[in-house]
Amino acid sequence: MKKIGVLTSGGDAPGMNAAVRAVVRCGIEAGMEVYGIERGYAGLLEGEIRQMERRSVGDILQRGGTILKTARSEKFTTEEGQERAMTVLDTFGINDLVTIGGDGTLRGAIDLARRGVRVMHLPGTIDNDVAYTDETIGFDTAVETVLDAISKIRDTSSSHQRTTIIEVMGRHCGDIALYAGLTGGAESILIPEIEYDINDISRKIVMGRNAGKLHSIIIKAEGANVDSQELAKTIEAKTDRETRVVVLSYLQRGGSPTMRDRLLATLTAAKAIDLLAEDSESKAIGTQDGKIVPIDLFDAGKMKREPDMDMYNLIEVLAK
Ligand code: F6P
Repeated sequence: MKKIGVLTSGGDAPGMNAAVRAVVRCGIEAGMEVYGIERGYAGLLEGEIRQMERRSVGDILQRGGTILKTARSEKFTTEEGQERAMTVLDTFGINDLVTIGGDGTLRGAIDLARRGVRVMHLPGTIDNDVAYTDETIGFDTAVETVLDAISKIRDTSSSHQRTTIIEVMGRHCGDIALYAGLTGGAESILIPEIEYDINDISRKIVMGRNAGKLHSIIIKAEGANVDSQELAKTIEAKTDRETRVVVLSYLQRGGSPTMRDRLLATLTAAKAIDLLAEDSESKAIGTQDGKIVPIDLFDAGKMKREPDMDMYNLIEVLAK
């Protein structure tokens, strides 16, 4: 009987539960024993492991967060921590793992695979900062949350003829800002991957006002190289228009996952079980051009994500 473990690690993301549900139910269907590891790699080190049944994952498909809980573990990044993890897995008789998380979780998965564990990794993070997949589990829901916020903020910004800077998450990746900026009609976006020009941004606000625009929305990724409050002060001074900051923060991580996130989670999880059942090498599973694609786990770790410059430039055109 194959014994597999499943864990979620790093920042939680809507759709992680859908992935856990599919891992557990497809795993049991394939004749495996499935163990839930709580609190990611941190819980693995502590042996926080319990056997999962079909009913353990009832009524979670629609819920945000992760029923397995999550954590970030400094200790796991050390040699000593990883040896400890191997001992715990050996004690529980688990040699196969499904890891669900972002780039930090992927690095942890690679560390374990180097030590002989078979790992299937699923990209679970709102940040969309994982290069081997077109989209990560949770990204679509997070962008929908930002769009909802933009609509509401636009109402009040127009009424007061203000500029509003909306700060979004994404760590070192600007994709939440880029996708929400393009589909939410932002005047400008600031992302970590591209240098911004404060005069450009300010000029657009003044020209927009001269053309009759009542408000300006600027989406700033948290990783962009400027403090939001400082940015607001500078823009206010340059444009002579009231400028406010809204930090969306953890709002973006909660909520019921969209259909797209549930589907991505479910299909990548089902694929992970198929691959474990056939004793495949370790893989990272994501999508390329809309198809579920497993790629070599070690290769996945070497890939770098680039921002979509066409989308970035289109925002400039549409905001005029
Ligand atoms: O990786 C997801 C994320 O929400 C990032 O966008 C953000 O920078 C970070 O996690 C926040 O982490 P924490 O939950 O530790 O505050």
